[in-house]
Amino acid sequence: MEEGGARFETEGAFYNERMEMNRDITVAVLRAWKERADCSPPSYLDAHTASGVRGVRAALEGYDAILADRSEEAVELARRNVEENGVEDGATVKHEDATVLMRRSRYDVVDIDPFGSPVPFADAAFSATDSLACFTATDTAPLCGAHDSGVRRYSCVPLNTTYHAEMGLRVLIGALVRTAARYDVAATPVLSHSSDHYKRTYLALDEGAKVANDTLEGVGFLSHCFECGARDAHDAEGAAVPATVKRDCDCGARRRVAGPLWTGAVRDAEFVDEVIGELDEGMGTRKRAEKTLRGVRDELDAPTHYDHHKIAQRAGATPSKLDEFLARLRDEGYEATKAHYSGTAFKTDASHDELVALVSEE
Ligand SMILES: C[S@@+](CC[C@H](N)C(=O)[O-])C[C@H]1O[C@@H](n2cnc3c(N)ncnc32)[C@H](O)[C@@H]1O
Ligand SMILES: [Zn+2]
Repeated sequence: MEEGGARFETEGAFYNERMEMNRDITVAVLRAWKERADCSPPSYLDAHTASGVRGVRAALEGYDAILADRSEEAVELARRNVEENGVEDGATVKHEDATVLMRRSRYDVVDIDPFGSPVPFADAAFSATDSLACFTATDTAPLCGAHDSGVRRYSCVPLNTTYHAEMGLRVLIGALVRTAARYDVAATPVLSHSSDHYKRTYLALDEGAKVANDTLEGVGFLSHCFECGARDAHDAEGAAVPATVKRDCDCGARRRVAGPLWTGAVRDAEFVDEVIGELDEGMGTRKRAEKTLRGVRDELDAPTHYDHHKIAQRAGATPSKLDEFLARLRDEGYEATKAHYSGTAFKTDASHDELVALVSEE
């Protein structure tokens, strides 16, 4: 098997083809991040290495990679893959529990990629990371409010709305930013995406009580009406739901409130642009990765999206082409962009009622 120039053996659960784009983007991020690192070579902890493919690819990029897994079988496989790629000098395989390892040593970049939620590893990850912490979450049901474990796992009330992809990403980032802040660490999302069955976020870290406090300004709440689909974002008051939160919807129904979750920007557009420049033809998912990242770079910071078809359905109209509809919104003076995770999702500063009115006129 080959991936991004690395050759490796695979075994059952230890290699997931569907994560290839996640890894291709990781490699592009590592290339862009290396330019900013103040030491050479920077260290990279692949804390849940499985087949070792992610860590091997980091070592091929000139990182001092540490590949860890608590499974003996995974570690044997990762060792063979390190040898197969001739990166023994740049890659060390450890048979260790990720948390134990992270409590003992520090790394420039730490990558957390367990099965399910990364939250059980977040405290240790923030204590072990100098500059960039990367997290993958595959527990989309709890993140999006489709399962009650979201409250337990993320200390947040998620809602099962039509904007699943956005809700999940923002519940995840909100929980991670709040965890980092507990240690006076400011975590700022420089790139995040919601793709397939997972969410991925890269957080740039900075130490200090003041900067950590500042990041909490990006944590807030969403009020959502399940009757008419209207929604609003609200800043938090400390950690609490603000008194001004809109509970009574204009349609007469009672809104529900999700949060605390991340309502700030999920990426730094300039950094995402650099990452796009680091994608290359040797990556199996280059085209799709580029499309995803362009979407991430260009989309509005709005914490929810609308679905073009659903709005048209509500207005009793046939949907036009999304590009045409977005151009029309911009002509009307609104901001409007696509969202990176779906062909029918878009973001705008127009309100739900304004959208329904506009679609009805089409
Ligand atoms: C989703 S796989 C990792 C995939 C890999 N990062 C990749 O990109 O192909 C999760 C791995 O985490 C390992 N794991 C789970 N809990 C762990 C822990 N506490 N410490 C270290 N490894 C752990 C599992 O054995 C499994 O190999
Ligand atoms: Zn309503």
